[in-house]
Order: sequence, then C-alpha cells, then structure tokens
Amino acid sequence: MSGGLAHQPSGLSSERTRVSVLGGGAWGTALALHAARMGHEVLIWALEPEVAKAINEQHENTTYLKGHQLPHNLRASNDIKEVAGYGELVLMVIPTPFVERTVSQIEGSVRDDAILVSCTKGILNDTLETPNEILKRVLPPRLHTRLAYLSGPSFAAEVAKEHPTAVTIAAEDDGVAKRVQELMSTSRFRCYRTHDVIGVELGGALKNVLAIACGISDGLGFGSNGRAAIITRGLDEITRLAVAAGASPLTLAGLSGIGDIVLTCTGDLSRNRTVGIRLGKGEKLEDITATMGGAVAEGVLTSRSTHHLAQKKGIECPVLEGIYRVIHEGADPVQVQTENMSRPLKAEVDARVAMAAHHAEVPAPPPAPPSQA
Ligand SMILES: NC(=O)c1ccc[n+]([C@@H]2O[C@H](COP(=O)([O-])OP(=O)(O)OC[C@H]3O[C@@H](n4cnc5c(N)ncnc54)[C@H](O)[C@@H]3O)[C@@H](O)[C@H]2O)c1
Repeated sequence: MSGGLAHQPSGLSSERTRVSVLGGGAWGTALALHAARMGHEVLIWALEPEVAKAINEQHENTTYLKGHQLPHNLRASNDIKEVAGYGELVLMVIPTPFVERTVSQIEGSVRDDAILVSCTKGILNDTLETPNEILKRVLPPRLHTRLAYLSGPSFAAEVAKEHPTAVTIAAEDDGVAKRVQELMSTSRFRCYRTHDVIGVELGGALKNVLAIACGISDGLGFGSNGRAAIITRGLDEITRLAVAAGASPLTLAGLSGIGDIVLTCTGDLSRNRTVGIRLGKGEKLEDITATMGGAVAEGVLTSRSTHHLAQKKGIECPVLEGIYRVIHEGADPVQVQTENMSRPLKAEVDARVAMAAHHAEVPAPPPAPPSQA
C-alpha cells in the first residue's frame, strides 16, 4: 500500500515572475539568491558600486555574503529607480535608519501591479515608527494596500545554504499575502501568512534587543537557566508591548515572535547576540561596532526605541530596559541583573495579555473533507 502523503498535491506554485530587491546587504542578497534559485528573474539594488560590480562580474557578494555563488539570473544595479520598476515583487531589505531616504526615491518607479515586501526589522529612534508606518508615511495611498512584511527566524547565511526555513508574511490584504506566499515558498523556504502587521513587525524588531540580553548573560557565564529566563520573560515583555500597540498575543507565539527570539537568542550567527556576548565579556560597544565591517546589529539602535516605546505605552520591561541602560547609560550588566531579580514579586501572566488572548481571533477550521462513504 502506498503512503498517503505521496499522493497529496504540492502546495507550491511553479509560476515565475520578476523580483526586485532593494538592499545588497546579507539579507537582501540571501533573499535574492533564494528567488533566483526558484527561477525568478532577479535584479538587486546595491548602494555600493563595488557590491553591484562583484555580483555582476564575480557572481558573489564579496562584501556582505561571502562564499555563496550567485546564479546568472540574479543581476545587480546601482540605479534604484531601474531596480524598483523591474519587479512584480519588490523586496525592501534596508536597515531601518535608511528606509525613508531610500524608499522616497522609488515612488514613481514601481509597477502598478507591484507588491512591496518589507523585510526590515527595527523601530526608528526619533519617531518610534515601524517600517510599515514609515512606508505608509512616505509612499502614496495607492500603494498602501500593496504592502507586505516578511519576518521570522531566518539567518541570511542559512537561507543562502538552502537550510529549511519558515517565515511569516503579514499584509492587511489577504490576497497580497497569498501572492507573496505563492511566489516565495519552496520546500526549503515555507511562508505562512497573517493580517497582524504590527505584531509581526514588533516581534521582529524587539527580539534583537533580547538577543543582546541573552548574549550579555552568556558572556558573563550565567548559564542555561539565566538564558531561558531571559527568553521567556523577554517574550512576555515583547508580548505586552505588542498587545498595547494592537497586536494579537498569538502572533508573538508564532514564527515572528518566539520563533525569531529562539533563533536570535541562541544562534551563533546572530550579530546582536554576538554584540551582547562581547559586552558581557567587558568590551566597549564602540570597539565591537568598529570590527563589524559595516554590518548592522539593529538591536543596538532598537534598544533606544524600545525604551521610549515602553515609556510611551506605560509598559514595564525590565529586561529590555536593562539593555538600554547598559548600552546607552553605561550601567553595569551584573548590577542590572541583580536589580531585575530583586523587584517586587508578581504573578507570571499579565492580565492585559490574558484578556487579549481570550479575545484573540482564531481562524475557522478548514471544512471537513467529503465523506468517503
Ligand atoms: N542578516 C540577516 O540574517 C537578517 C535576517 C533577517 C532580517 N534582517 C534585517 O534585514 C535588514 C537588512 O539587514 P542586512 O543584514 O541585509 O544588512 P547588512 O548589515 O548585511 O548590510 C548593511 C546594509 O545597509 C546598507 N546601507 C548602509 N548605508 C546605507 C545608506 N545610507 N542607505 C541605504 N542603505 C545603506 C548597505 O548597503 C547594506 O545593504 C535589517 O533590518 C535586518 O534586521 C537581516
């Protein structure tokens, strides 16, 4: 008797299109490589002329994603308008501080049928805007329903190696999220979808701060108990902040929440965790940043935004706040840890999160299969 699974139709689409990628860093290049391997025609915008040149001539991004051969259907350009107007899917993979400046250059160039997928994780320091909020401020209303967000546990280097990866696509318009799912999913890169844009964005941004906390704990040699406590209580803080901003707590229990937290807080490829480990071992932030070769550990900037966001929302976030104090106020990590553990004792589950979980929308189950009788 043959196994049932072998007869199930594949959920993967064979449709191919043109894909633009704005941002030739590690993540932009890994996503471009993934799209090109799928058979899409891919054009990537790199800020640096040497990055575009290396991709076109050596078929490798020798600056940001060394050691990965890039196929010939992945080409690069320094002309942002040309790249923005090329694809049906426009993946925006730019660190948060540069999103506004970069995206304001593309408005008139994108195709009418384009879907713009933000793959950025962060919160702007000055305005506390997420990438979605920046994009809605900068782009004309006609494009607002064409926006989607990709987030989840995904190290660029592992996607480049085709290691199995699962991510979440968030979009207000379910048709837009489904289209991105179809065009980006493979048997090695599975995309789920949700409406909860703010939940996905805050999970993706705030986990970077938590990764620094885990790194510091590991750098101090505090062991597995401490790391597990930071991950769990950090998830609680992130969930409370996200719920206060309108997110569903269920989103934070998914790929863009706990999924990305586990990845970044335990994975050795995490830049944010590495920054934390080095801070925990007593190095200075300036010295650490100077050795990163232009790569961005977004958690350093996001820790400032988190501090202000928590104040604005009136949410107590001792773990995330502790990282702000260590990085931006020069506080001693051991002192911060001692103070956090000595706070007044409290219940584990927050009442507001419990209420939100009680009212959270759970999608209806699929219809039962027709009776075989
Ligand atoms: N690297 C990963 O594994 C990974 C995974 C998921 C999400 N992300 C997110 O993707 C985003 C991009 O990160 P990355 O890892 O690809 O970047 P990176 O650190 O590898 O490279 C830095 C990028 O910033 C660009 N840049 C520098 N100055 C700029 C400017 N003035 N204007 C526009 N661009 C400028 C560079 O050209 C380069 O593309 C970040 O929000 C990050 O959190 C990264």
